[in-house]
Amino acid sequence: MTDLHSPMQPGKLQNYNSARGAEAYKADYRNKLHRKWSDRRERALLAAYFAELERLGHGDLDSILDLPCGHGRLADLLGSRCRRLIEADWSFTMVSLNQRDHGRDGRSYCRASALEIPLPDRSVDVVVSFRLSHHLETQALRERHLQELFRVARKAVIVTWFSATSLKNVLRQVRVVLAGKKPKNVLRNARVREVAAAAGFAPRRATPLFRIGSGHVLGLFVRR
Ligand SMILES: C[S@@+](CC[C@H](N)C(=O)[O-])C[C@H]1O[C@@H](n2cnc3c(N)ncnc32)[C@H](O)[C@@H]1O
Repeated sequence: MTDLHSPMQPGKLQNYNSARGAEAYKADYRNKLHRKWSDRRERALLAAYFAELERLGHGDLDSILDLPCGHGRLADLLGSRCRRLIEADWSFTMVSLNQRDHGRDGRSYCRASALEIPLPDRSVDVVVSFRLSHHLETQALRERHLQELFRVARKAVIVTWFSATSLKNVLRQVRVVLAGKKPKNVLRNARVREVAAAAGFAPRRATPLFRIGSGHVLGLFVRR
């Protein structure tokens, strides 16, 4: 794989790819209060989004792709919603940790880049992609990520991005100007909807993870 497939800051990527970094990410969700809160909130939103899919007649799901899967934080929840869960991540270490913890029953694992997903168009019922977009360093890559998710999904996409209009980003922009801080890797919600529409998807939900303290938005898009 080339840098194009993993265009995060190299230090961050090395961290996710190392055994210590992967274990530390997993431990954060066990030990840190803010991680536990966001995990709980993400699960509640995911449950609501799957309920919405059921209402839309998409309750019986054959397959879900979870990319990037990380250590499998959401694997049990997603596995309970489909017959076949595909867990994929750029990091070998994350994928093997995930497989060690969750086994192969109804699951398959692979190393893959979310910027060039090695699957045909419309080959998976639902594609889920949590907490990757804000690591991608350019607008073009963040849009390419979205386009890949929409290409592979047959029925729906559930994706997070860091919203340009979130309070957290507005405050960051002030610090960018006044204190020379690095800008966040954001997307405008309207632009996400445009990319979705161009791929034939309608927006159903776009909910902030938290209005204060987080800029992440969880979106649900359904194929028209
Ligand atoms: C913050 S973690 C999120 C993991 C999981 N989705 C979660 O919410 O717990 C980011 C993950 O993205 C993976 N990653 C980084 N660049 C990637 C790429 N281009 N394609 C696929 N995975 C990537 C990292 O290895 C890491 O596991």
